[in-house]
Amino acid sequence: MFISFEGVEGSGKSTQAKLLYEWLLDRGIEVISTREPGGTPGAEEIRNFILSEKKEHFPENAELFLYMAARSFHVENLIKPALKNGTIVISDRFSDATVAYQGFGREIPVEKIEYLNSIASKGLKPDITFLIDIPVAEGLKRIKKRKLDRIEKEAVEFHKMVRKGYLEIAKKEPDRVVVIDGRKTIEEIFEIVKTNVERKTDAV
Ligand code: TMP
Repeated sequence: MFISFEGVEGSGKSTQAKLLYEWLLDRGIEVISTREPGGTPGAEEIRNFILSEKKEHFPENAELFLYMAARSFHVENLIKPALKNGTIVISDRFSDATVAYQGFGREIPVEKIEYLNSIASKGLKPDITFLIDIPVAEGLKRIKKRKLDRIEKEAVEFHKMVRKGYLEIAKKEPDRVVVIDGRKTIEEIFEIVKTNVERKTDAV
């Protein structure tokens, strides 16, 4: 089973991914927790490169291909082998993030991104995706105190487009994407996550 968490900056998705990981682990279930971009040494190197400030303009296509390259490392070297072993994989972001950020945020045509996603992920899609949805202003307020990376520093309008993108994906794929109001408490959100995971698998 492959589970992803998505959302705009400050949505609380990483907290939920961690709670789910610990909950499954406590039940003696084989599970790994990973993230995008990242998850393997090569993909983490790409992550550092993508998210750090550059002394030159960062072309949007370079950004797109780097996310895809990181995904390729991640899928081939970590996710696919783990799934093959019967391990549950939880990923903090996956291919929907590229549709939302590079498609809606950077305005690269979504069909092109979907095509590249299918190559980079070798056709792999999450069985279930939790979209923790929160108004952009609220999410950005939550992350204000930490040091922001290159993408987090984008204008509010960019993040609003990203949110719109995520909601469009959810509308298109309601069977896969569970939208949860990120303004609920951590406990309330986690209850919804657990219920949906339990519903999806007999193993839990
Ligand atoms: P994080 O905030 O979840 O650690 O993700 C890192 C940043 O990368 C975040 O700002 C979202 C962005 N991102 C994309 O723009 N495209 C992608 O495909 C992925 C996976 C992340």
